[in-house]
Amino acid sequence: AEDVFKKIVSHCKEYGFVFPSSEIYDGLGAVYDYAQNGVELKNNIKQYWWQSMVLLHENIVGIDSAIFMHPTIWKASGHVDAFNDPLIDNRDSKKRYRADVLIEEQIGKYEEKIAKEITKARKRFGEAFDEAQFRATNPRVLDNQKKRDDLHQRFSDAMNANDLEGLKQIILDEGIVCPISGTRNWTDVRQFNLMFKTEVGSTAEGASTIYLRPETAQGIFVNYLNVQKTGRMKIPFGIAQIGKAFRNEIVARQFIFRMREFEQMEMQFFVKPGTEIEWFNKWKEMRMKWHQALGFGAENYRFHDHEKLAHYANAACDIEFKMPFGFKEVEGIHSRTDFDLKQHETYSGRSIKYFDPETNESYTPYDIETSIGVDRMFLSVMCHSYMEEQLENGETRTVLKLPAALAPTKLAILPLVRKDGLPEKAREILDDLKFHFNCKYEEKDTIGKRYRRQDAVGTPYCITVDHDTLKDDTVTLRNRDTMEQQRVKISELRELIEDKVSI
Ligand code: GAP
Repeated sequence: AEDVFKKIVSHCKEYGFVFPSSEIYDGLGAVYDYAQNGVELKNNIKQYWWQSMVLLHENIVGIDSAIFMHPTIWKASGHVDAFNDPLIDNRDSKKRYRADVLIEEQIGKYEEKIAKEITKARKRFGEAFDEAQFRATNPRVLDNQKKRDDLHQRFSDAMNANDLEGLKQIILDEGIVCPISGTRNWTDVRQFNLMFKTEVGSTAEGASTIYLRPETAQGIFVNYLNVQKTGRMKIPFGIAQIGKAFRNEIVARQFIFRMREFEQMEMQFFVKPGTEIEWFNKWKEMRMKWHQALGFGAENYRFHDHEKLAHYANAACDIEFKMPFGFKEVEGIHSRTDFDLKQHETYSGRSIKYFDPETNESYTPYDIETSIGVDRMFLSVMCHSYMEEQLENGETRTVLKLPAALAPTKLAILPLVRKDGLPEKAREILDDLKFHFNCKYEEKDTIGKRYRRQDAVGTPYCITVDHDTLKDDTVTLRNRDTMEQQRVKISELRELIEDKVSI
């Protein structure tokens, strides 16, 4: 799985999807640039989300709030005081780690040991192997299960109690070594705030510290009453937003999975107090359906209900997708109660209550949030679509089986040869179809090589313009997934393709 992931990362670079940021300066940690194909795929993902949220729900509208906001917003939301990661440094390597991640990895090591024993035993016993029985009786498995469970318990206790000393003690007791130097020379654990700071104001005296938003959600909360009034929205209603968010992540690994600058697609759904759990469950189901509609297979998704809830939530769950490195969170659905709106009332001193014209009551609505990372969604699409196929003639082809609606290019238009008027004819077709969907014209290399390049960037259809085209206005239409070719009339192309590639 590790190897597959490495291949996907290099495929993203080689085929113009994602580049490391500032690469000619050796890059900048956990920051990436979307390239010519990546930006198209990313835009399509955003459009797919926006359409399903804003266009298909008459009670959801969109906004685009500024990244810079009044600094008190982050005091009110709790981010200034509590948006922290517990950090620990290793004195020898001078490298910084998240204490919680080091401990989670240690828990993972016990899991690995258990998995190894099970694999060994399965090989030995074959068909007759009974995993449950083995887990319940094998002394090595039992020992590792106990160590894992004890550690898990100690870890959650320390995290819940915000016990930094306790976290350090676990690292020492478990003998966790620095992944780089292999030494145990750890500093104390301390809290590190994830928000990036900058200053507004032209003079040093007039400057004030502001933050780059760590979530887009707050831009919605502080605008909710403006939107409600100007849009004459009635509860329940939602506000959606797509935009950049910034977090000074310490553990930056797994490519675009955890970035310092990333994008979120968030929707806050305001409901009457008391109805929030019903809405939370509805949104859970609706969001899962949205993911599954891409056709990646229901078995690749799962809900992860949170046992431990943030102080503002009364229910929360993640939608996880099976990445090559395991099931990972792609989206969070949270019942945030009236926490955020109430906090903003307190800190701003303004009333932002909703007046219900039907019951003549005023109240602070409760909020259900759906929050998905664009980049994580992008990664899940890439991971699922990347395939190396063994062909009948013994060759292998690398193909990105992207859902056609998300593919950067929908149709590649390829003249068979670069002469005899074929390029001109091909361009004529391009000039007509480019107004309807994203087309690419390519004339370099053999037709076989051009097909392979289009497979590698996920183009669902190619057409070849050949000498017969000049006679009868037909072209060869090739399907990326089946590699089947059929002869079709130029005049029918638009209808044939548009239907299959539109979002
Ligand atoms: N407003 C709620 C909120 O921000 P979150 O669970 O911290 O909740 C929501 O983030 C989603 O944003 C995550 O499910 C993930 O997809 C994405 N996300 C969070 N941090 C990220 C990071 N450092 N890099 C990429 N995506 C991230």
